[in-house]
Amino acid sequence: MKKLVLASGNAGKLREFGQLLAPFDFEVLPQSAFNVPEAAEPHITFLENAIAKARHAAQLTGLPALADDSGLCVTALGGAPGVFSAHYAQLSPDEPKSDAKNNARLLADLAGVADRRAHYVAVLVLMRSADDPQPIVAEGEWHGEIIDTPRGAGGFGYDPYFLVPGTGLTVAELPHEEKNRLSHRGKALAQLLARLRAGA
Ligand code: IMP
Repeated sequence: MKKLVLASGNAGKLREFGQLLAPFDFEVLPQSAFNVPEAAEPHITFLENAIAKARHAAQLTGLPALADDSGLCVTALGGAPGVFSAHYAQLSPDEPKSDAKNNARLLADLAGVADRRAHYVAVLVLMRSADDPQPIVAEGEWHGEIIDTPRGAGGFGYDPYFLVPGTGLTVAELPHEEKNRLSHRGKALAQLLARLRAGA
């Protein structure tokens, strides 16, 4: 099996990517297994941040690397919080991340705003080596709208406020298999797998 390093410390992502990439003869290992510290994410696009994370992991391990970058883009806020989704309410870099504070800021920003359209974005980048001139890039979007009152206990982040059109449910109310099928990450991953199947 070929080793592939995942540029993330998230155990859920490791399990999911590991299961899905096993048929392609990839053994997915976390970057922490190689003492790779988290990469900086200084860019203003998901794509650039995902490339930076994958390149960093490939550079430090000498192995092919997979990275993802994701976030929520709200139409009336010009695409914010976007790449700052995880840190939206942080006043200083050393303040811990907080979903509750991020959600409070989102609702405050949307107070009195009628246009509630928003979408999640996920970008995946697979680099065969740190100097790969043609990494595999896959992207998924999930469109919905932001509501004022949270519902549901599943998911994470902005999910209790993200209403999925046609279901009457928030993402936090969906069973997790359903979220994985519909989500931005699920769609990006399906695209990545299709590219691998096609021999990319
Ligand atoms: P990351 O790409 O896993 O670091 O996620 C970036 C941030 O975007 C998260 O911390 C959340 O704030 C937000 N986000 C990304 N995907 C989701 C999702 O599926 N549900 C809720 N929030 C998400």
